[in-house]
Amino acid sequence: MATILLLLLFSASFTVDAQQAGQSVIKPGSLLTPTCTNSSWLSGSGLYAFGFYKQGNGYAVGIFIVGIPQKTVVWTANRDNPPLPGDVKLNFTSDGRLVLQSAQAGPEIVIVSSTEGAAAASMLDTGNFVLYNSDNGTIWQSFDDPTDTFLPGIFRLIMQEDGWLAMYPVGSKFTLEYGYWGLGVSGEGTDVTLNFDDDGRLYLLNGIGISIVNITTGDPTKGVIYRLRIDPDGILRHYSYNLDQNGDWKVTWSSPGDMCAPNGLCGINAFCFLNDRKAACKCLPGFQRVNEDSWTSGCERNFDSKSCKSN
Ligand SMILES: *[C@@H]1O[C@H](CO)[C@@H](O)[C@H](O)[C@H]1NC(C)=O
Ligand SMILES: *[C@@H]1O[C@H](CO)[C@@H](O)[C@H](O)[C@H]1NC(C)=O
Ligand SMILES: *[C@@H]1O[C@H](CO)[C@@H](O)[C@H](O)[C@H]1NC(C)=O
Ligand SMILES: *[C@@H]1O[C@H](CO)[C@@H](O)[C@H](O)[C@H]1NC(C)=O
Repeated sequence: MATILLLLLFSASFTVDAQQAGQSVIKPGSLLTPTCTNSSWLSGSGLYAFGFYKQGNGYAVGIFIVGIPQKTVVWTANRDNPPLPGDVKLNFTSDGRLVLQSAQAGPEIVIVSSTEGAAAASMLDTGNFVLYNSDNGTIWQSFDDPTDTFLPGIFRLIMQEDGWLAMYPVGSKFTLEYGYWGLGVSGEGTDVTLNFDDDGRLYLLNGIGISIVNITTGDPTKGVIYRLRIDPDGILRHYSYNLDQNGDWKVTWSSPGDMCAPNGLCGINAFCFLNDRKAACKCLPGFQRVNEDSWTSGCERNFDSKSCKSN
């Protein structure tokens, strides 16, 4: 059986000013609601928050960066579920479960399933949300559970058993003909890991701890945060944001370079071409789009077979 690590996005940490540093400890019995004052729990420095954010015509629960003008979601719970209604409550129950309760949405939705009840939770300044037991041991952390299914993304990044980091469309086999990007050194075996350091350095380590591929070089500058994301266009991007400058997220690295490389980007009966260096899609002659909002459904015939007979 293939041991694979599915990743959607990572968020590396940054160093907080000493006077700001502090841990947010959330105790059982705490409650969040999307529309009241307490809609999220902040990390010690106030950079990250865990809680409700607006999504579509409702709300979602996740981790987002609030300390910068560009609010950025870095992790989402129950990603495949529809948006939550306004009456929803995030209840950290007295027996240590983290559940969503809503009269409208029906039965309780479990955010974190664990056999052991949590005695505390904490939104850390690294962007990691952690549940602890009464001995301060980690029961669950969002860093161990990167979202593996995502909308509207139709691509995935995996760390393969052969030591290669690779990208495939969702639902395809993990074979060469479906993969559209890969990075690695052959013969390194099953223990290769993808690592993402606080300073933004991204690299592959082999089983004995030697870096075999440096993907991005680190930057020792303090006050820079990083994230890695498979964007909906199938391109893996490494972003950086300088907290001291009210700028925007910068793309520090991205791959593959060919924007049309992601297989299935245009769906069936369609092809990809570059338009102003961006990927664009077109139906094959005799076909039209199935869905005007998204290319993933591809194209279908724009005539029926009956009209063929007469001509
Ligand atoms: C919000 O949370 C704080 C700290 O946990 C608590 O003291 C306060 O009562 C809460 N406010 C509301 C409106 O629930
Ligand atoms: C939280 O959940 C528990 C267990 O289901 C329930 O007894 C409690 O009333 C809930 N708290 C709130 C404020 O709804
Ligand atoms: C739990 O660990 C944190 C840091 O890891 C420490 O600050 C805290 O005092 C510990 N709490 C207990 C109850 O051991
Ligand atoms: C990657 O970078 C590290 C630290 O800069 C260096 O020690 C290592 O040799 C590099 N690995 C490769 C394969 O270039």
